Amino acid sequence: MRAALYDRYGPPDVLYEGTVPNPDAKPGEVLVRVHAASVNGGELLGRAGKVRLVTGLMGRGFPKRTGIDFAGEVVDPGSSDSGLAAGDRVWGLLPRSFGSAAEFVAVPPRQLAPAPSGLDLVQAAALPAVGTTAITALRDKARLTAGERLLVRGAGGVGSVAVQLAKAYGAHVTALAGAKNLDFVRGLGADEAVDYATTGPADLGRFDVVLDTVGTALPAYRRLLAPGGRMVAIAFDAENLAASLSYLLVSTVFGPRRVRFFSENPRRALIAELTRLTESGAIRPVVDTVYPLAGIAAAHRSLERGGVRGKHVIRIV
Ligand SMILES: NC(=O)c1ccc[n+]([C@@H]2O[C@H](COP(=O)([O-])OP(=O)(O)OC[C@H]3O[C@@H](n4cnc5c(N)ncnc54)[C@H](OP(=O)(O)O)[C@@H]3O)[C@@H](O)[C@H]2O)c1
Repeated sequence: MRAALYDRYGPPDVLYEGTVPNPDAKPGEVLVRVHAASVNGGELLGRAGKVRLVTGLMGRGFPKRTGIDFAGEVVDPGSSDSGLAAGDRVWGLLPRSFGSAAEFVAVPPRQLAPAPSGLDLVQAAALPAVGTTAITALRDKARLTAGERLLVRGAGGVGSVAVQLAKAYGAHVTALAGAKNLDFVRGLGADEAVDYATTGPADLGRFDVVLDTVGTALPAYRRLLAPGGRMVAIAFDAENLAASLSYLLVSTVFGPRRVRFFSENPRRALIAELTRLTESGAIRPVVDTVYPLAGIAAAHRSLERGGVRGKHVIRIV
């Protein structure tokens, strides 16, 4: 089958469309024909070799694969226990591995839920990874409630869903984004959109919840928390990995306002909640550009350059 591959760590140019054997579905696994997969911020670090400790644990040697999430159609439901049938429209995430930018994936049924009805599968592919991350961050880790003041630091892939979700939860949302995306972020529902290049933490005020998707300067943003405030961090500073990870480790255990850090590995109930929120209109996918599989390097290059509005999606079919 066709898949996005790379043979060495490096810049986006190392990526290419190649051929690998079709996945060998284990007993009980569901075989899915992928219609589209998204490009996630974390994958850029993986491809560049900046998080080898993690990517080394996440699978085989080279060629390595890309893509965490997908939307597609069931080819083989595995067993009747999966509750799925051939032809069902599904979306989901691979279990802690890369490789959804490919024609097929084989996954345990717990990694899938029905895709939202009425939503094109290529558009839908923008949501599984960032949507489940935003739900875990705001609902489960921050326990964001109506009327609270939220700062979303980085209204990119995860952040653009977090803004929408927080508005659905009734929060007051301030979002930090690049200058050219401020109107776009307001269009997602942010009450205030602020240019991260010209406004530092000292000028932002107090927040009940800070969601950080950037990973640098965490102590400065943690200090913005009001009494009883919660900070959820999902990224680390890849240029200062050891210092960043030790700060996260210590701050999740000690201090009056512990930082909540998590590494998302969603299961069916969470993916199904994303389906529900999308069908209710609380969340919509935000697709900047759809690339063909052969455009995988261009998609990574663009996300690395910055300024993307929402998500880049790789169309497979
Ligand atoms: N822990 C988990 O489970 C989990 C899950 C998903 C993602 N993540 C991590 O979260 C991070 C973000 O992922 P993503 O997919 O949302 O990436 P993304 O789509 O690249 O979004 C990052 C956003 O941050 C903005 N940004 C960059 N520097 C900033 C700054 N100094 N202040 C404020 N905003 C800034 C970027 O804006 P410009 O492009 O305009 O510069 C961009 O909109 C990645 O490191 C990823 O690995 C973790």
